[in-house]
Amino acid sequence: MVYRSTRSDRKKQAFIGLLFAATAMAKAVPARSFQHNAFTRRSNTEMLPYRDASLSVDERVDDLIQRMTLEEKAGQLFQNALNLPANGSSTLVNTTVLAIEGNFQTHFNLAGAVDSPRVAALWHNNVQQSALNTRLGIPVTMSSDPRNSYIDAVGSQIAATAFSQWPGSLGLAALRDASLVKKFANIVRQEYLAIGLRSALHPQVDLSTEPRWARIGGTMGEDANLTAELVVAYIQGFTGDEFGNQSVTTVTKHFPGSGPVEDGEDSHFTYGKNATYPGNNFEHHLIPFKAAIKAGARQIMPYYSRPMGTKYEEVASGMNKGIVTDLLRNELGFDGIVVTDWGLVTDGVIRGQDMPARAWGAENLTEIQRAEKILNAGADQFGGEKRVDLILQLVGNNTITEDRIDISVRRLLREKFLLGLFENPFVDVDAADKLVNTPEFNAAAQDAQRKSFTLLTNNATVLPLKHDKRVKFYTEGLNTTLLAQRKVTVVATPEEADIALIRLQAPYEPRPGGFEKSYHAGSLEYNVTERARQAAIYSTVPTIVDIFLDRPAAIPEIAEQAKALMANYGASGEAFLDVVFGADGYKPQGKLPFDLPRSMEAVEASNGDVPFDTVNPVFRFGHGLSYEDC
Ligand SMILES: *[C@@H]1O[C@H](CO)[C@@H](O)[C@H](O)[C@H]1NC(C)=O
Ligand SMILES: *[C@@H]1O[C@H](CO)[C@@H](O)[C@H](O)[C@H]1NC(C)=O
Ligand SMILES: *[C@@H]1O[C@H](CO)[C@@H](O)[C@H](O)[C@H]1NC(C)=O
Ligand SMILES: *[C@@H]1O[C@H](CO)[C@@H](O)[C@H](O)[C@H]1NC(C)=O
Ligand SMILES: *[C@@H]1O[C@H](CO)[C@@H](O)[C@H](O)[C@H]1NC(C)=O
Ligand SMILES: *[C@@H]1O[C@H](CO)[C@@H](O)[C@H](O)[C@H]1NC(C)=O
Ligand SMILES: *[C@@H]1O[C@H](CO)[C@@H](O)[C@H](O)[C@H]1NC(C)=O
Ligand SMILES: *[C@@H]1O[C@H](CO)[C@@H](O)[C@H](O)[C@H]1NC(C)=O
Ligand SMILES: *[C@@H]1O[C@H](CO)[C@@H](O)[C@H](O)[C@H]1NC(C)=O
Ligand SMILES: *[C@@H]1O[C@H](CO)[C@@H](O)[C@H](O)[C@H]1NC(C)=O
Repeated sequence: MVYRSTRSDRKKQAFIGLLFAATAMAKAVPARSFQHNAFTRRSNTEMLPYRDASLSVDERVDDLIQRMTLEEKAGQLFQNALNLPANGSSTLVNTTVLAIEGNFQTHFNLAGAVDSPRVAALWHNNVQQSALNTRLGIPVTMSSDPRNSYIDAVGSQIAATAFSQWPGSLGLAALRDASLVKKFANIVRQEYLAIGLRSALHPQVDLSTEPRWARIGGTMGEDANLTAELVVAYIQGFTGDEFGNQSVTTVTKHFPGSGPVEDGEDSHFTYGKNATYPGNNFEHHLIPFKAAIKAGARQIMPYYSRPMGTKYEEVASGMNKGIVTDLLRNELGFDGIVVTDWGLVTDGVIRGQDMPARAWGAENLTEIQRAEKILNAGADQFGGEKRVDLILQLVGNNTITEDRIDISVRRLLREKFLLGLFENPFVDVDAADKLVNTPEFNAAAQDAQRKSFTLLTNNATVLPLKHDKRVKFYTEGLNTTLLAQRKVTVVATPEEADIALIRLQAPYEPRPGGFEKSYHAGSLEYNVTERARQAAIYSTVPTIVDIFLDRPAAIPEIAEQAKALMANYGASGEAFLDVVFGADGYKPQGKLPFDLPRSMEAVEASNGDVPFDTVNPVFRFGHGLSYEDC
């Protein structure tokens, strides 16, 4: 470690730091949150080399790490969820202060929707203030699951509310436009920066080769090459011009590609532990990850699933040395941060539901043995955990060396220095509302929602509809206020109508449980009752169907019976009506990001690890009409 700057440099640096901190705090943080005399504490570290931005990142990391106690190091290895206070306050709850000042954690994911960017920014600054109250003042890195889709699916996506509302990632994939993906990522990056989110728990580049999987909605579809092309643009957009203080670090997931889940069941749950490769197609799922690594992926998240029948141990990928160290680090050359998916060690409760630790294949290990296995696998950080105690025990009894801990702590600290968090952890509270969903961002998102519609059939060129007040509409799944605003005449039954507009959710079988119920799993077909209900409408009145595909659907009967069939991947009623009526020249431009299978029978007979493998699909990947074609 070399500390080059002169004493007067240091004084200048410290003075600027103090001035900056003072200004930022005075502006951003309400006086009532200064319970800990942070100002004095911060000034104690201002003179230290790791605070000196003129030193190299390696020098700063070296200086900081040798000052850290084992407790302070252990705190870096955990990342878990924080919620904004439910009452709209920006004051930190005690558990948050304890996590930061007692457990020395500095990585958190912001759970839940943000209604007020200003409040979120204020709260975030209070979090950073709490971090500055600690002995070394290591700033917090705040992350988030996707929160820019029109869809609201708890667990892996968060309602967009205040942020720009785009179609889901499948909709971006449907547009097959890398420059649009880059624009999306660039806008989301700026919205994240506004409230202090510096880490994206995405992109999700699993291939949707098993059409039943409940998490297909967050992927870019079934095609490896398309996903590989788009993930590069995605990472570039979150990086900005160069990786630095205007960047959001990305977590590409879920290694080694979690599309091929057995029977389509998700591995959050005990019945979905296995990833299976009946088509012997393990390697194929690495294609997007190779592209991401080449594009400078910063962090990678292995999934819960355990690979069955491969050369790897049959344990969850996050605790799997063959997957993390041999494959990801040694074969694919990834030297960034590996953060496990949430909750591999400790049983917990999510949305009121008991959730056993997802230590699949290692259920019989104790918590401390799981922690040891995760570290020995080569992961750097435990997602959804805060078990500093386990690290202290493992190092305390010489099961894990402190050098091993240091390897991961270095990677995690480097990222903070590169993100510029040590220079300025605070955000401008007064600007937050203005920086989020600007008119320009909103226009881009709304435009993408409309374009991403995928027109599957359009018999007798029924679309676009001409606007005519005499035409009577029967509608389902549409807010009637929107129809009234357009002076569309709405009637109560299909029998009275000239045309029907029906917006459907793709079929699924509801699951119980507070958390599980948000996972759309099971059959891709509508049940007999629902098919009969819909058929009665289709046989009564020419019907335009729009289906929200959060995963593929097996709906040959709708293709047959409806006058027109469209798909969306998260789009508002307004967007739908604009496209249906061709308002402002809008027309569907999406191409299917996956095959739509013929039946559940075809799905069950296919290999879940092989793309485009169901017999005689109704529509193929890439299908999509536009109005000119009709
Ligand atoms: C909101 O909750 C926080 C944390 O529980 C509490 O400190 C604060 O006083 C509450 N504020 C209001 C306005 O109720
Ligand atoms: C939170 O911490 C404050 C200050 O230490 C204490 O007075 C208060 O009782 C705590 N509140 C809860 C709900 O534990
Ligand atoms: C994907 O890209 C590879 C390499 O460019 C090429 O060989 C392959 O044919 C492509 N596959 C598809 C399905 O387009
Ligand atoms: C952000 O980084 C740029 C370029 O590296 C630098 O010029 C600028 O001073 C940095 N800003 C802060 C607040 O550190
Ligand atoms: C996973 O695979 C193992 C081994 O084939 C099998 O015993 C088990 O039933 C499968 N499914 C689950 C949910 O564990
Ligand atoms: C875990 O322990 C149970 C009960 O002792 C045993 O039946 C099971 O085979 C063990 N599982 C593994 C993966 O070792
Ligand atoms: C250290 O503690 C862990 C957990 O109690 C235990 O599994 C391990 O055997 C211990 N190792 C030594 C060397 O005592
Ligand atoms: C219907 O749309 C109106 C106007 O945008 C909105 O105020 C209302 O909350 C919506 N109703 C529902 C049930 O979403
Ligand atoms: C059939 O599907 C409909 C709509 O998806 C649902 O409301 C109904 O409960 C289902 N019926 C059965 C018997 O599963
Ligand atoms: C729409 O066209 C397809 C293909 O020509 C045909 O099979 C189907 O019966 C038509 N549906 C309606 C409702 O006209």
